[in-house]
Amino acid sequence: MQLTGKVALITGAASGIGKEIALVYARAGAAVAIADINLSAAQKTADEIKAAGGKALGVAMDVTDEDAVNNGTRAVVEAFGQLDILVSNAGIQIVNPIVDYSYADWKKMQAIHVDGAFLTTKAALQYMYKDDHGGTVIYMGSVHSHEASPLKSAYVAAKHALLGLARVLAKEGAAHNVRSHVICPGFVRTPLVDKQIPEQAHELGISEQEVIKNVMLGHTVDGIFTTVEDVAQTALFLAAFPSSALTGQSFIVSHGWHMQ
Ligand code: NAI
Repeated sequence: MQLTGKVALITGAASGIGKEIALVYARAGAAVAIADINLSAAQKTADEIKAAGGKALGVAMDVTDEDAVNNGTRAVVEAFGQLDILVSNAGIQIVNPIVDYSYADWKKMQAIHVDGAFLTTKAALQYMYKDDHGGTVIYMGSVHSHEASPLKSAYVAAKHALLGLARVLAKEGAAHNVRSHVICPGFVRTPLVDKQIPEQAHELGISEQEVIKNVMLGHTVDGIFTTVEDVAQTALFLAAFPSSALTGQSFIVSHGWHMQ
């Protein structure tokens, strides 16, 4: 699975899953743009990749800001000459029962997950559609693109929405050699999840150990967390897949939590 000569833009790549995808793509030969709202952390990741002999660029990008997305995407193409892979991965989590969920938090969740996916896709397609250059767009969904959990109304709604966007892009993009997919991980120990453990324990009135064992891993086949490496290898497989046979799909990487 090689990405030699390819250029990838990964949002939210300064941390967690996105960072691991950037490291794996760079090792596979891609030039990678680490796009994140946290520019100093993005540059640190880019420096790490460059120190290991790879090609990388840290890019300041708030995925909810159309100008920032367009300017950041243009900067990547100016630096590396083209754009072949977009991984729309930036995300946050806010947990609360619907009855207490503030409208402001709801809108923030949709803005980052859904508007961010739309804006980054639209920006990337300017380059992928040009001369039918083509490319692969990967959305970071979740098992919550298929399942629901209490306290996660905004997240579940947003992650379901990504399936729709990916399917429309598969149909519209085919004529321009653009493929799209959603990766749907189970729980992965990143800062996003570590923050939720005490929050869910508090909301559900159970211990943190019970949150991990019953809420996060209770439906897996083996009680094991998915890892950033598991997700990154899936992202590599999808980006490197050699034909257009795979498009418009969701790939669930979750230790069997959800089976299709
Ligand atoms: P993380 O918290 O480790 O990393 C998220 C990154 O997104 C951070 O670097 C943050 O600065 C960046 N970010 C936040 N808001 C942004 C914005 N407006 N614009 C640009 N960048 C922004 O989180 P993690 O766990 O790596 O999550 C990445 C994606 O994976 C998210 O979409 C999340 O929903 C999804 N996911 C995570 C799972 C998990 O268990 N950790 C499971 C399933 C999906």
